[in-house]
Amino acid sequence: MQHRVYAHRGVSALAPENTLAAIKLCKAHHIKWFECDIDVIGDGTVILTHDSTLDRCTNRSGGYYHFTQADLNGIDAGSWFGESFQGEPLPTLAQLVQLMNEQKLNANIEIKSCEAGKAMALSLLDGLQQALTALEPEREVIISSFNHLFLAELKKRCPRIAVACLYESYQPLDDAITVLEWVGAEYIHLSQQGLSRETVARFNQAGYKVAVYTVNNTMRANELFNWGVFAVFSDVPHLYAERYRKS
Ligand code: G3P
Ligand code: CA
Repeated sequence: MQHRVYAHRGVSALAPENTLAAIKLCKAHHIKWFECDIDVIGDGTVILTHDSTLDRCTNRSGGYYHFTQADLNGIDAGSWFGESFQGEPLPTLAQLVQLMNEQKLNANIEIKSCEAGKAMALSLLDGLQQALTALEPEREVIISSFNHLFLAELKKRCPRIAVACLYESYQPLDDAITVLEWVGAEYIHLSQQGLSRETVARFNQAGYKVAVYTVNNTMRANELFNWGVFAVFSDVPHLYAERYRKS
């Protein structure tokens, strides 16, 4: 099996997570696949962010569900990480898609939970579908979420899109497999905490490729690959052997 490393939130050990600066580092390090997180603002624009507030990763605070694109101007999503990233913008998904086309990158895009309710959740899916129309056909995308209802709705709308169910806890395994079937997922993404070789084997037997987060130790990654894990998410993808970064 060919194994893969996803640059988690971009090359997030070297640049502020979920910014174009972190994703641009993929090319410099010969990394083909990255992971990022998305949510939606009030006018339906999809943005890159892990958190539901601006507090941790920008120079602003509070929520963003009432924002329009104009409100994104001037947000500094880089200074918290280091002076050299001062002024790094908070990117939109449309800007990310353009970068993916330019730099020939592939993505695992994680839909965050969208805590603003059902209308915003549907707006997020609309925005995601709209942004992906600009993606060149050679580019590959996997959409993941802990919210499996979002994924089922997306798969209903776009049956050809590859999706991955994210889990923190997945016991009993047969229940998780029932959900994967119902969603129509191709992948399952699991935390490395408490994961066993037997669990990986069970999901593989059921026909699902397993990816594991967040693995910053390359020896641990090798162990997981030996168990049958297909891919790992890492904040330090540049430290992995080139064969994992290129596949
Ligand atoms: O998609 C894998 C991983 O990114 C899930 O956890 O909190 O880093 O988004 P988190
Ligand atoms: Ca994520």
